[in-house]
Order: sequence, then structure tokens, then C-alpha cells
Amino acid sequence: MRILCVFFIFSLAACQSQLLEKSVMTPDPHSYANSENVVVKHLSWTAAVDFEKQRITSKATWTIERKDERAAEIMLDAKSLRINRVTLDDDQATEFSLGADDPIRGQALRVQLTPKARRINIYYETNPGSEALQWLSPRQTAGKKHPFLFTQSQAILARSWIPCQDSPGIRFTYDATVSVPAGLTALMSASNPQQKNDSGLYSFEMKEPIPSYLLALTVGDISFKPLSERCGVYAEPVTLEAAAWEFADLEKMIRSAEELYGEYRWDRYDVIVLPPSFPFGGMENPRLTFVTPTLLAGDRSLISVIAHELAHSWSGNLVTNKTWNDFWLNEGFTVYFEMRIMEKLYGTDYAEMLASLNLHDLKKDMADIEAGAHPEDTRLKLDLSGRNPDEAATDVAYNKGYFFLRSIEEKYGREKFDAFLRDYFKQNAFSVMDTESFIGLLNSYYKNEFNVTIEDSLTTKWIYAEGLPAGFLPPQSDRFSKVEEAVRLWQHDDDVKSLAEKWSTQEWLHFLHSLPDSLSSSEMKQLDNLGNFTATGNAEIFDAWAVIAVRNNYEPAFASIREFLIHTGRRKFLTPIYTEMIKTEQGKAFARSVYEDARPNYHFVATSTMDKLLSFDPATP
Ligand code: BES
Ligand code: ZN
Repeated sequence: MRILCVFFIFSLAACQSQLLEKSVMTPDPHSYANSENVVVKHLSWTAAVDFEKQRITSKATWTIERKDERAAEIMLDAKSLRINRVTLDDDQATEFSLGADDPIRGQALRVQLTPKARRINIYYETNPGSEALQWLSPRQTAGKKHPFLFTQSQAILARSWIPCQDSPGIRFTYDATVSVPAGLTALMSASNPQQKNDSGLYSFEMKEPIPSYLLALTVGDISFKPLSERCGVYAEPVTLEAAAWEFADLEKMIRSAEELYGEYRWDRYDVIVLPPSFPFGGMENPRLTFVTPTLLAGDRSLISVIAHELAHSWSGNLVTNKTWNDFWLNEGFTVYFEMRIMEKLYGTDYAEMLASLNLHDLKKDMADIEAGAHPEDTRLKLDLSGRNPDEAATDVAYNKGYFFLRSIEEKYGREKFDAFLRDYFKQNAFSVMDTESFIGLLNSYYKNEFNVTIEDSLTTKWIYAEGLPAGFLPPQSDRFSKVEEAVRLWQHDDDVKSLAEKWSTQEWLHFLHSLPDSLSSSEMKQLDNLGNFTATGNAEIFDAWAVIAVRNNYEPAFASIREFLIHTGRRKFLTPIYTEMIKTEQGKAFARSVYEDARPNYHFVATSTMDKLLSFDPATP
């Protein structure tokens, strides 16, 4: 019995130490990096971009820091890369191996180190299927003459084009030399050229340390137009003027942001408008935000996305979520900051409309999550071990995060919260944050600076509990109340038409969201006359309309819906339309026929979601 007991205690201890070791060894469940022993500090990247072979051939030289001198190897993340050779320092031979291929995390690349090694050189090629990369044929661009390439690294796709320690908690500086076909321009999340050169050779430098998910490259027929001394837009030549017009307020936005939460720390801020397959509204690649062309509504009504990506220059890019479990720290803070910029520039009325739309989206997403396989995902702090971190990208992180921060502001006052945020960005610049450290900082700041005790229940009920806390105060928009009146009257009252003529995109969206679920075909026709929805060039309005049209089987819109789905690859627009389609057998057939034509135009980020949604197996056509 005693022996058994001793054995039991032993194995328990062994088990515990194994557990402990595991959590120390893998601080980030989505990375193989052994950063507690050896960590990357700088990347020198040399690359040649080959559009014919859809391949980047490169050498990545990582300068490393030895935290534990005895560590005999460094571990990096890699996914569908062909590693040809790895050397140390000045090309001294060494051994390397690639581990088992995990469908989410990819492979661990282990490189043997000598005691004095300070650099590793990895000679490798990407694969045409590398998930971050989208190679577009000329036909898939706006200008139709030249091919195009862009990357999307967040959350864990950087490893599919550069072997790296792919964890948001690890920062490094970089320089790069990229060769592209003559006539094309290359841009990165770094110092950028403003003109094409004949050699097709471009050099880049990022002097501020960034995490790997902010590595970005784009290549195409791209021109530049300045908007101020320190900001401007890049786009294909045929899109450039429209883009410059749409984003004319960019300098004002940067100034407002700086007034709110301190100096912009990344030198220039430029925006590039990508081809329509770009899977997001925007991506905050440092110095060069990537955006979808669906922001070009022609009336500047969708520029809050720009405010959002700009805000990431503080929340996310300066103070970065430690792992993807803390993703709400990136996005919730950014939505809060975005809304403050919008309020400062365009007034409270406008900002409250945006806030109400945020709440609408949040409620919808929460209802879907509650009905799904992971109802616990309505918490802010997540545990995504073993799951794809992409699953954290829900409205919970964005808008529950936003309303949480807003509730701190409301409860203790705006002045205090602004002071906290200004210091938070300053004191934690270029470092990482997790949820628990944030709560600690918030509590101690309010205690020390204002002698205010933040109620524990406030943080715990928002962060660790599911759903929306009881007593939550929703935003109030007078302009939306008027829209609701119009929703009651629109069928009987001609005044609604003249009223609606003055509506902004946001009011139209609220109108569409407030309609009853079921509408007759004559009502649908009448609505279409009122808002000209089927023909609208505003992607947000079209998307909301398309869902209603599918639900009510409004055939006059089907051709435009097909066209929209084939042309646009922004996942936020695709999901609701396809989701509505597959609710009926007839709709399923429609969805499938459209998807077959559309899928070749989508980036991996979109196809991976839509394949699942539509039970589409790319291997069996
Ligand atoms: N960083 C995100 C995009 C992202 C999130 C990429 C998670 C990969 C994984 C970006 O800042 C973003 O939030 N984009 C939004 C814009 C919006 C909320 C204004 C989008 O694309 O819709
Ligand atoms: Zn964001």
C-alpha cells in the first residue's frame, strides 16, 4: 500500500511537472517557438517573387538571442514551406528537421545551434498553396493588365511565407530586399517606395520591433498619391483617384488619434486599396494599412474602417495581445479608439449610430455562438488551445470588448479613462499584454491616480462571464429612432421617401435591420424602389439587402447577388449571404453554383470559412 502510495505521489508529481513544463514550454498554444531559450530579434529577408510559378524564393536570416546558452536548438514555425538548406552565421553547415504537420499549426522547424551561433540562414521556397498568399491573375485586378500578390499573415499565417517564431508575443525588427517583375511595385509593412523603379528591386526597413502577424507584402501595378506630408494612398492606377477622394480625411484622423492617446510612433501612415478578393475590411499592417476596395462607396461613409486600422497603430501594434486568447485586447480597444476618433471628427450623433450598429452585430453574432459548438466563446478571455485562432475573430472580441471599455468610461468618467489609456499605450509601447495584466494595471492606475476602486464584478462579469452583463446600457441614437418610425410608416407614407433621401449609409443599414423577417414580393419591390438596393454600389447596404432578398426569395436581386459574391472576397460580406442561402434546398443549389464560380477568386481565409459553411470539399468537385 505504501509503495503504491509513493508511486502515486511520484507519478502525480511527474505529471504535474510535465504539465508545468508544457505550460512553460508553450506560452503560446499556437506556436512551436522555444522563445524562452532562444528568441529571434531581427530578420533580413531576401526574396524573389515569381508570378508564373506562384512562388517566392527566399533567404531568411534571423539574428537570435540566446536566453539559455545551453539551448542546442531553435524552434520556428513553418507551414507548407520547402526548406532547401539551413546554415549558421556565415553559412556554416548545420542540421535541421521539420516536425509532424498539424493542420492548424503547421510544422516545427528545428535548427541545431552551436554554442556561439548568433544567426541562422534559411534558404526556402513558398508553395503555390501557401495560405497567407493570394496570387491574382490580371483578370482579378481592377486594371486587368498585371498580376497582383498580397499577403495576409494574421493570425498564424506568416509561417506560410516566412519561417518565423509566429507568436504575437515575440517582436523583431526587419529589413528586406525583394525582386519583382519589371513594371510592378513591391510594398511591405515597412518604409516604402513611392515610385516604381525599372530594376524591379525594392528595399525595405522596419526599425520598430513588430510581431510576425504584422509582416506583409504586396506586389502589383501600384501607384501612390500623397494626402499630407506623412500619409497617402496606394492603389492600382484606375482606383487611385477614387481612393484619394474617399480617404481625404486621413491626416485629420491621425491628428485626432494623437490628440486622444499620444504620438503616432511609426513615422508614415499610408493605406493601400487592394483588389476585391482581400478577405477583410482592413488589416493594420504597420505603416501600410491594407484595405478592401468595398470601402470606396463614393460618399466617404465607410471610412470608420480606416479609423479602426489607424487605431491599431496603438492598440495591437504598440501594445499587442500576448496570445490569441487575449485577442479582445487588440480588437476591443481598437473599436473603442475607432469610435472616439469618429466622434471627435464627425460628432456624437454619428458615433452613436455606429455604436448602435455595433450592438446589432454583436447581438446577432452572440446568438449564433450560443447556438453553436462553443457557447463559451461569448466570453472575452478565451482558451483556444487546439483550435484555430481565427475562431476568435467574432464580434465578441470587437464589440463586447468595446462595450466593456465604454462601460468603464461611463461608470468612472471619460477624463479618467483617457488618462489611463494615454499612459497605458505609453508605458506598454512595443510590448505585450494579457487580460490579467490589463486588469491589474487598470485597478492599480485607478487606485493610485484617483483613489478609485474598480469593482471586481465589473471586470469579471464582462471578461469571464458569457453573454452581455445585466444592466448594460445600450447606445441611444435619435437618428435611429427616426428611422424606426419610418419602418412603421414606409408602406403608407410618401413622406418616407423624401425623408430617406437624406439618410446616411448607417441609417439605411438600420432601416434594413429593422424590417420584419418576412416580406411579400410586392413589399420587396416597393422597398427596392425606395432604396434602389439591388443596384446600389454601397457594399454594406448591398450585403444587408442581399440577406433580405435571399430570405424572401426576391428573384430580381439574384443576378446582382451572384455578381457580388463572385467579385467580392470580403469574408464579413460572404458569410451572412451564404448562411441565409443554405437555409433552403433551393438556396443551397444556388449557393453551390455561385460558390463554384466564386471560389477561385477568394483568399484562403475566405475559402477556409466558406468550405466549412457550405460543406464544400475542394478535392471532390
Ligand atoms: N486585424 C483585423 C483583421 C483580422 C482579424 C485578420 C483577425 C485576421 C484575424 C482588422 O483590424 C479588422 O478588425 N478588420 C475589420 C474592420 C472593422 C472591424 C472596422 C474587418 O475586416 O472587417
Ligand atoms: Zn481590427
